[in-house]
Amino acid sequence: MAVVSVPAGMIEPSPEQARAWCAQLESGDILYFPRTPVPLPPDDIGFLLGQQQTDSSLHKNIAYKPGLDRLSGVDTRTASPDAVARLHGIMRHYSQSVVAFLARFLSPYQDRWQLDYASFRPQEEQGRDLPLRRRNDLLHTDAFPTRPTHGARILRFFSNIHPRRSRDWIVSDPFASTVRQFVPRLIAPRLGSPFSRMGKGAARAIGLGSAIPSLKRSPYDDFMMRFHNFLKENPAWQAQCPKYSFQFPAGSSWMVYTDTVPHAVLAGQYALEQTFLVLPEAMVRPEVSPLRVLEEIARAPLL
Ligand code: SIN
Ligand code: FE
Repeated sequence: MAVVSVPAGMIEPSPEQARAWCAQLESGDILYFPRTPVPLPPDDIGFLLGQQQTDSSLHKNIAYKPGLDRLSGVDTRTASPDAVARLHGIMRHYSQSVVAFLARFLSPYQDRWQLDYASFRPQEEQGRDLPLRRRNDLLHTDAFPTRPTHGARILRFFSNIHPRRSRDWIVSDPFASTVRQFVPRLIAPRLGSPFSRMGKGAARAIGLGSAIPSLKRSPYDDFMMRFHNFLKENPAWQAQCPKYSFQFPAGSSWMVYTDTVPHAVLAGQYALEQTFLVLPEAMVRPEVSPLRVLEEIARAPLL
């Protein structure tokens, strides 16, 4: 795994180069832009740096949902309606700028992703007091409790908008090598659990309600969620696994498949991020995707 620095001004790579970037991302590399290709107006950055959330435990981040054009997680006790509206506009613009940039930069994925949430992360990450499974200073691969991906890959684009400080990450070896240390001895895919293919309606019909998220998960999503928890709850692995640290400087951006690369943020404040769920058929190197790796281990389809 490596951090691959993208030359400045590289906006529209050739199709071959774009495929090469996709292949590197899929294999677990981080693509790093020393100067962000999606700069924000200085006024907007100044505004974001002035935002202080008081109820950080309630909402981990401020989220923007591009499909609905909705902002959530804002502490309305400290933010005026004008401030909320401005924040909304800035997030909408950031989201659109990242999408426009990646549509050209990662052209093999264009139209083959589902646009997920964007987030604004105004909290200091060092020493954040969160419940264990929500901590981001423990190495983990990403999975969303309420949003199963059904095999789509979680690609995240980050921007460190702090005026001076770096955002400090550690990462470990990609999914394929990390997961093989543990399966099937300590954790294994659960094949076709009785409810995994059951739709909401069927679940309700037998009185299970629709409130149980795991009912909507495929065996793949079930494993990815359990693996996220398993890694965070494994102090021996956290202590002993190979670790590579990176400090992403003020004003930089980077992107990474966070379902593939175990990652943790140790320090830093003020980041923006946009998530993409890239469809399995868009993969340039499907053989290294967590889905394929797991299906090979399980010798069964997991979707
Ligand atoms: C995470 O995805 O675990 C957090 C990364 C960050 O906020 O820098
Ligand atoms: Fe994460």
